[in-house]
Amino acid sequence: MTPNAPSADPVSPAGLLADLASVVGPGQVLTDPEVVRSFTSDWTGRFTGPAVAVVRPGTTEEVAGVVRACAAAGATIVVQGGNTGLVGGSVPPPAGTGAEPVLLSTVRLAGVGPVDTAAAQVTVGAGATLAAVQEAARTAGLEFPVDLAARASATVGGMVATNAGGLHVLRYGTMRRQVIGAEVVLADGSVLSRLTGLVKDNTGYDLSQLMVGSEGTLGIVTAVRLRLVPRRPERAVALLGVPGTAAAVALAAELRRRAEALTAVEIFYQEGLDLVCAHAGLEPPFDARRPTYLLVELTGGPDVLDQLAAVLDDSPVDDAATAVAGDDAGAERLWAYRERHTEAVSGLGVPHKLDVTLPLGALAAFEGEVRQVVANGWPGTTVVLFGHVGDGNLHVNLVGPPPDDDGVDGAVLELVARHGGSISAEHGIGRAKVRWLHLSRSPAELGAMRAVKQALDPRGTLNPGVLLAGPGRDASDDETERQR
Ligand code: FAD
Ligand code: MLT
Ligand code: ZN
Repeated sequence: MTPNAPSADPVSPAGLLADLASVVGPGQVLTDPEVVRSFTSDWTGRFTGPAVAVVRPGTTEEVAGVVRACAAAGATIVVQGGNTGLVGGSVPPPAGTGAEPVLLSTVRLAGVGPVDTAAAQVTVGAGATLAAVQEAARTAGLEFPVDLAARASATVGGMVATNAGGLHVLRYGTMRRQVIGAEVVLADGSVLSRLTGLVKDNTGYDLSQLMVGSEGTLGIVTAVRLRLVPRRPERAVALLGVPGTAAAVALAAELRRRAEALTAVEIFYQEGLDLVCAHAGLEPPFDARRPTYLLVELTGGPDVLDQLAAVLDDSPVDDAATAVAGDDAGAERLWAYRERHTEAVSGLGVPHKLDVTLPLGALAAFEGEVRQVVANGWPGTTVVLFGHVGDGNLHVNLVGPPPDDDGVDGAVLELVARHGGSISAEHGIGRAKVRWLHLSRSPAELGAMRAVKQALDPRGTLNPGVLLAGPGRDASDDETERQR
């Protein structure tokens, strides 16, 4: 059977719902259409699809029971954490494209264990929010090193499944680096548990790491053992206007080279700053206007402001376009200009969100060309670019083309490939980019990925159509075969 293909067995909705209720209790099987609908659209509003029911297991054993019941009925499962994903992976496929799945929500798997200060680790449920983990770490005098603006809702399980990046990757790495081990329910209902916290454990395949970035297609993460880092109490944040992307990349490189305490270098543009100010009712950070802005953060000891000043004093940034904060309130004020881009863009309409990485040397050329490609092919489109310039990661947000017309998505992703970049830096492939996976993965890699999927989920129970194409063909399959 094709990986991701649903079982041939017919779904028996009434029998399945009764089986699910016997596993999790009737109160945790939600079928009221209004309630179910509140789970079945993604954060952007671009991806929506119907579900048979929403099921909320409260333990790993219940997750395993739900998986077994669905597999026995030939039903598929869509896994959902905080539903802040931006590529449509956390919601069912559109109506009319196959059997409706069961939506498994991890909301009740939200426990946060005691912080192991000796090991600087903590075990948390997959449904724990990033904010809850950050809070627990800070209370214990430590820090969880991944941060992103959706912290109040994004869950650890979703962040593992997407290998979330965020604001501190240049210092601490992506989610992958924080995962010491995981507990996972496989598609046959068996449970893998690697929560001992052993940092050295060379006993074969690292199955926990295999789940990182697998977007719910290989297993359902139920708990995770996470690495914590020392707290860095002092921080300095600067917002700097610069002449363009090339200058931003050059200054980011200088900061990386010289500022040992550097934690974040973010980029946005004048159009984004104007949009955020209008959307959030904020005053601009300074009177001067510049094409491009860098948001820089250093965290560490008492010398962070000195480290920042040392680099800025030798740089061409001018005082009229510089704002610096050395306290938390000031830092939050400056961060808002960057963090509130996502909501401000959504305020314009349903966005096409493309999340790409470029080699740093190609970033400036790409920025100019992508604006041109969109203006030529889709005139009138609003283009809002921002991202994590320290990682070469730009978020290309386009508002105007109809949500279901993905021509502009393809044009941007093909441009990325021509520049040697990746079509997803941190959001994943989801349902949004399956057609273009061949632009970033070779036929051999796609074949190996399909083989892994086939081995772990031969009936295609988990997240069909996410990451890898579902039943039927798509451009990715065609391209793979063409290259063979
Ligand atoms: P969901 O959206 O619920 O799911 C995402 C994917 O993971 C789906 O494929 C789902 O099936 C799968 N999944 C969820 N839970 C599990 C589980 N327990 N086991 C197996 N699979 C699972 N992302 C970044 O990387 N960096 C950012 O800076 C960033 N900033 C954001 C800012 C805003 C305002 C918003 C709205 C989103 C942002 N995101 C960012 C995207 C999003 O927050 C991340 O992708 C996050 O990891 C998703 O977590 P979630 O719990 O919401 O997952
Ligand atoms: C960000 O960096 O703000 C996020 O990845 C969200 C987005 O791309 O909108
Ligand atoms: Zn991002």
